[in-house]
Amino acid sequence: MRLFLAVDIPEDIRSSAERLIARLEIPSTKVRWVKPANLHVTLKFLGETSSDRLAAVIDAARRTAAAFGPMNLSVDGMGVFPNKIKPRVVWLGLKGDLDKMAGLAEALDLALARKGFDREERAFSPHLTIGRVISDSVKGQIIRATTAHREMDLGSFTASSLVLYESQLRPGGSIYNAIESFDLKKTV
Ligand code: 2AM
Repeated sequence: MRLFLAVDIPEDIRSSAERLIARLEIPSTKVRWVKPANLHVTLKFLGETSSDRLAAVIDAARRTAAAFGPMNLSVDGMGVFPNKIKPRVVWLGLKGDLDKMAGLAEALDLALARKGFDREERAFSPHLTIGRVISDSVKGQIIRATTAHREMDLGSFTASSLVLYESQLRPGGSIYNAIESFDLKKTV
């Protein structure tokens, strides 16, 4: 099972992201745009995991989520990874309780390391991937779009749960199945 832990984005913001993507007029042959239903913020990528470790993952995620409270977030701005010279991933940025979110990502990483999973080596960089660049021919269009939308606010929401997803890689695009959801229930 290819697993990851993520925060979901509400429907209205997913629809706004879909409209924003449509307005860019960059065809899906040049950028593989993420389907609105698949938009999420990954907090921990576990990768290929044997199903007999699923109970340990669920236990670690539940305990960690319970020690954190809801996060107020907004989806704001657009950028690219790794850089503007060679954009590979187009993302929407996040604002709000990002220290809390980074703390949750770190706590998940630690809790899962105790269960034998690899530590994340890259610094946590909260983002919503909206597209993966296929063709360099649209590089200029992408960079102009990120500049134009640098401060674009797509709306605010409260993230009150964490979701464990299984990702199935398919030729037509990944399919994400939610396995279990964990409340961020700390109240103070
Ligand atoms: P991305 O959005 O930055 O591409 C499902 O594939 C989710 O797991 C995606 O959100 C993806 O992040 C993340 N992901 C995929 N492979 C990863 C890796 N090797 N390391 C970290 N995150 C990864």
